[in-house]
Amino acid sequence: MKKLFESTVVGGIALRNRFIRSATFEYVYDNESETFADKLLPMYEKLASNGVAAIITGMVGVDENSRAGSVMVKGYAQSFVPEVSKLTAGVHSLGAKLIVQINHCGQKARTIDKGGCPLGPSAASDAQGNPIKSMSQEQIRSVVNSFAETAVRCQRAGADAVRIHAAHGYLLSEFLNPYFNKRTDAYGGSIEGRARIVFEVYDAVRKAVGKDYPVWIKINCKDLTEPSIAPQEFQWVCSELDKRGIDAIEVSGGAMVSQESASTPLIKKEENEGYFGREALKLGETTSASVISVCGYRTPQIIEEWLNKGNIEAISLCRPLISEPDLIARWEKGDMRKARCISCSKCFNPELKCIPFAKDA
Ligand SMILES: Cc1cc2nc3c(=O)[nH]c(=O)nc-3n(C[C@H](O)[C@H](O)[C@H](O)COP(=O)(O)O)c2cc1C
Repeated sequence: MKKLFESTVVGGIALRNRFIRSATFEYVYDNESETFADKLLPMYEKLASNGVAAIITGMVGVDENSRAGSVMVKGYAQSFVPEVSKLTAGVHSLGAKLIVQINHCGQKARTIDKGGCPLGPSAASDAQGNPIKSMSQEQIRSVVNSFAETAVRCQRAGADAVRIHAAHGYLLSEFLNPYFNKRTDAYGGSIEGRARIVFEVYDAVRKAVGKDYPVWIKINCKDLTEPSIAPQEFQWVCSELDKRGIDAIEVSGGAMVSQESASTPLIKKEENEGYFGREALKLGETTSASVISVCGYRTPQIIEEWLNKGNIEAISLCRPLISEPDLIARWEKGDMRKARCISCSKCFNPELKCIPFAKDA
């Protein structure tokens, strides 16, 4: 029987327990100085000193068209490696691991360094009517290359793994989802075409970091849009990634184009905990990669139940750890009351000062 607090190996990394801080955009990047470590480290130290086994960073942009805003970390800045190195050293000194999530925001990009409009699989317009351009195959090749180069920088900075973001309606997830992807070339159509860029990114990253470095991915089992990636398509993409050597797959969902397609749903009832857990369990029946389940976990007893239903190796938590950075230590000490997080998602709005740890940092 799996226990919450036992050491284990997930996605090629030894962890002291089964709790991971899910990737959480931290709104701390200083676009002028291109620094972030001084603001981020106190947050990470707080989590690491309170028992979290691994921290997945908020999404880091892979190129100049990739960022959600100017507060998103540039994975392509000169300062990136020394800044991440500071985080790695701090987190490691407290017994936790650091995984860097690399991303291209696709049509959700809002800070385009050299001007121009966001890029996606297909031409579209955003909610304000601003244009989104369809990527050329040359632009696809360039993005694939940027993911690989950013992964190498994470490795050089001593991160324990690199995590490809292919969920939540960002670029790779847009390609996978027929709601966004209307292409008729080799990168569209059937799931073989829609997933091509994901496999190219994985293969390029793997080639760049070598066969022994842990490479993880976060991917949608359902997009909550109409149409969406189909359940069997999700399973097929994961099985192909498994064959290629992916180390861990975190199963998420939602394309973030409406309230219904949120990746951060309201979790009121216990039966909603583990919102995408069933799909993670199904994946666990066939994959040799470590399966991580995210979304809606709030109650330690329920988390332990999910871990023991099948091959889910770890659980990641986002909003509960914004609300209570010391949650894991509290549970470990025996105070097993559920997380106080009510899933209001106000932590998304920095103006409300509900940014991660605003009260404590
Ligand atoms: C403020 C905030 C920032 C987030 N930033 C990211 C991110 O950078 N990358 C990512 O993959 N998911 C991000 N997420 C989604 C979470 O990682 C997680 O999938 C989601 O919140 C559901 O888990 P929870 O119920 O434990 O909050 C973010 C969520 C919130 C609330």
